[in-house]
Amino acid sequence: MSYDERTFVMVKPDGVQRGLIGEIISRFEHRGLKLVGAKALQLDEELAKTHYSEHEGKPFFEGLIEFITSGPVFAMVWEGKDATRQVRRMVGATDPAEAAPGTIRGDYGLDLGRNVIHASDHEDEGANEQEIKVFFDDAELLDYEQATDEWRY
Ligand code: TYD
Ligand code: MG
Repeated sequence: MSYDERTFVMVKPDGVQRGLIGEIISRFEHRGLKLVGAKALQLDEELAKTHYSEHEGKPFFEGLIEFITSGPVFAMVWEGKDATRQVRRMVGATDPAEAAPGTIRGDYGLDLGRNVIHASDHEDEGANEQEIKVFFDDAELLDYEQATDEWRY
């Protein structure tokens, strides 16, 4: 855990189509996390397979790749104290049907295949940094102080 931990988050094609980008950004902003990178893009098959390589061979893999490449996504990097674990808590369980109300998936999803958002969940910070690098060059990520930092920490 560190105070400037960075974590990768992505609004999936269903979240973009349903107009949830702003709502999701607001939740992380209001929590006190800092946005250090963001872009809209559409994943090609190669990028999708690299991103989800840990799931290769699983029964849901092909469907997952088809879904995640099916439309634009909104990729972000959020920074803050214990960011990876805190973002995951806000995202909720993988299956929206099981995700607690109040979490993003629990408030906006109904089906496992359409769970609105991706967030890193690696135990070690190095693996999360690696996931960020799949989507963002160093030059695309900001390093800045916010006036509000002193009110957070
Ligand atoms: P996973 O990394 O286990 O979940 P999370 O997104 O919470 O980190 O799985 C990646 C995505 O794969 C998940 O968001 C939805 C999809 N998926 C399925 O379609 N079926 C499944 O049984 C699982 C476990 C995941
Ligand atoms: Mg995962």
